[in-house]
Amino acid sequence: MEELTFNDRKTIMTSDIKDLRNFLEGRKSILITQRYISNLAKKFIAENLLISEFFDIEDGEEAKNLGTVMSIVDYLGKNNIGRFDCLISFGGGSASDVVGFTASIYKRGMELAIIPTTLLSMIDASIGGKNGIDIGGTKNQIGTFYQPGIVYSNVNFLKSLSEIEYKSGLGEIIKYGLSTDRNLLSFMINHIREIEARDEKVLKSIVTRSQKIKMGIVKEDERETEGIREVLNVGHTVGHAIESSSGFKIRHGIAVVYGMLVECELSIKFGLAEPSLCNTIREIIKKFNFPVLERFNINEIIKYITNDKKIKGGKINFPALKGIGETEIIRIDVRDFLREVKDEKIWLAR
Ligand SMILES: NC(=O)c1ccc[n+]([C@@H]2O[C@H](COP(=O)([O-])OP(=O)(O)OC[C@H]3O[C@@H](n4cnc5c(N)ncnc54)[C@H](O)[C@@H]3O)[C@@H](O)[C@H]2O)c1
Repeated sequence: MEELTFNDRKTIMTSDIKDLRNFLEGRKSILITQRYISNLAKKFIAENLLISEFFDIEDGEEAKNLGTVMSIVDYLGKNNIGRFDCLISFGGGSASDVVGFTASIYKRGMELAIIPTTLLSMIDASIGGKNGIDIGGTKNQIGTFYQPGIVYSNVNFLKSLSEIEYKSGLGEIIKYGLSTDRNLLSFMINHIREIEARDEKVLKSIVTRSQKIKMGIVKEDERETEGIREVLNVGHTVGHAIESSSGFKIRHGIAVVYGMLVECELSIKFGLAEPSLCNTIREIIKKFNFPVLERFNINEIIKYITNDKKIKGGKINFPALKGIGETEIIRIDVRDFLREVKDEKIWLAR
């Protein structure tokens, strides 16, 4: 068990069910899960006997809207749930985004527990207190920063995850390795077979290391005001644009892996990285058997980058890969950045 302390809230990070039991003791607890995994949630509740109520929501991104928020709020109100009772998100990042947001506004903030069940949510979405829902087709248009009281991670949940969702989570872990922790990346490459087999011990190790990296960064920059959290955006400037231009058919972590490759080519152009770094990323994509993405619509991608939230005053803060485990945030004129992105060569070098 580890504790993350923020200005006004404290988060317990644990993989021990006893910590979750202690946390929920004496409160009513309402578990919200994604419809597709409601059997997994029921099994969890039956085995652990600690949840008072159960409620399911739409699957995936479909749930991240005001309608879901209102249905949860309605349910809480009708069942006399108070602010010291606990809302539990059981599922992936889509669930924790909508449940976290609801917990942050219900009675001006009620207790929140997160039980991440996808690899991506275990190492990313459940940590750091950001939540969000989509409005009018725009992702995370509204949201708050609201730290959960506890995050309970159990890698055994990952056994039933589809291969593509699993790869998406691995993509974000590779990002942690490439951007900040060379040892994590070597460990992954040396344990590729165990990772493929979803070996519990190896998974625990890479999940814990990734969680520590994210915790370390958000502790220093909870509200994204210090520029420190920007290092987490490696691969995301281009990755988000790839994901959006595919109409979200390409899963997030997979788009990020290809985003890192293209951004690495940009880093070379900006004189920050050596070509061997891009070769390393290419080898990783092959070794981990990431799906091959055939064709990108560069014009669409440019459109999405132009609307990137990270652009301020005509400049973009770009976390540039410099070497394995090394990142530098550079501030660059958007026009110069886009001129380089338009160069087809950096896209063909896959
Ligand atoms: N708030 C943050 O800091 C943050 C960070 C990263 C991503 N996100 C958000 O997270 C969302 C993506 O989250 P995600 O990748 O976890 O996907 P997801 O929550 O959309 O879930 C993907 C699919 O996996 C299924 N699933 C979940 N657990 C499973 C299990 N154990 N076995 C089998 N199937 C399971 C779900 O039912 C769903 O169909 C996006 O909306 C993104 O914006 C938020």
